[in-house]
Amino acid sequence: MTDTTGRLAGKSAIVTGAGSGIGRASVLAFLREGAHVLASDRDSDGLGETAAAAGRSARLTTQVADAGDEAQVADLVALAQETFGGLDITYANAGISGGTAGLGEITPQLFTEILRINTIGPFLLAQKAAPHMIARGRGSMIMTASVAALRANAGSPAYSASKAGVVSLAQTLAYQLFGTGVRVNAVCPGLIETGMTKPIFDMARERGSEHKLGQINPSRRYGEPSEIAEAALFLASDEASYVNGQALPVCGGLSAGHPFAVPGKA
Ligand SMILES: NC(=O)c1ccc[n+]([C@@H]2O[C@H](COP(=O)([O-])OP(=O)(O)OC[C@H]3O[C@@H](n4cnc5c(N)ncnc54)[C@H](O)[C@@H]3O)[C@@H](O)[C@H]2O)c1
Repeated sequence: MTDTTGRLAGKSAIVTGAGSGIGRASVLAFLREGAHVLASDRDSDGLGETAAAAGRSARLTTQVADAGDEAQVADLVALAQETFGGLDITYANAGISGGTAGLGEITPQLFTEILRINTIGPFLLAQKAAPHMIARGRGSMIMTASVAALRANAGSPAYSASKAGVVSLAQTLAYQLFGTGVRVNAVCPGLIETGMTKPIFDMARERGSEHKLGQINPSRRYGEPSEIAEAALFLASDEASYVNGQALPVCGGLSAGHPFAVPGKA
């Protein structure tokens, strides 16, 4: 079934981390705009919920895979090729926070696992998809970084470093793919209510301090997964044809400033 009307009409996409939060919202946005989507996650229940939210769309295929495992990522790309006959968009979005372990607590093992999923995962998807996109002379690769990649105080040192690596990947891979027609960009979400941030939201609600979430953000609120999905959709689409090698903060303005006293609360 081909939708010929949407902003991604006739295009095919892989989305990882598609069983929850930002990934699920992106699958729904991509489908809405006419794409064929291979949605992947390591959590099969989450993927099932995404399929249900998509109304079992005929343009949606799901596949359980570990986004940080080379063989499984290669299989994912092969499946997209086989199912769709081509691959236009990859959205490497799967990620873990790895908790709040700080300088004194983080182990090399945990740091390595965070890097494996958050940084090497997007690299692997780019590496496996690149030959297919290069052969067709076009493609858009998107990766989820974070405002934690840009400055301190939005995640643990390991998480932040892993996301800074994603920003660097968007920049360096854009140049590795010089002249091929393949674009690579990252999105840097601020605080978004998803499975990853559920503990923060649960704790705030328990304490009755939910209103404080986002209070130092110039938009005075936290974000919704769909607001990141719409940015990813833009980067995926031909509307972003001259956007390449960039890390786009989608954070309500949080990453634009230095720490400050909230007006009227100083
Ligand atoms: N929520 C936020 O505030 C926020 C802010 C900045 C960046 N991010 C990033 O956004 C991305 C999406 O996270 P989210 O907020 O939607 O959280 P989420 O927990 O709701 O979704 C993440 C999904 O990734 C999947 N996943 C984790 N490890 C995987 C692996 N190895 N292989 C396959 N799938 C795996 C999980 O099962 C889950 O479905 C992540 O990269 C995260 O770091 C989130």
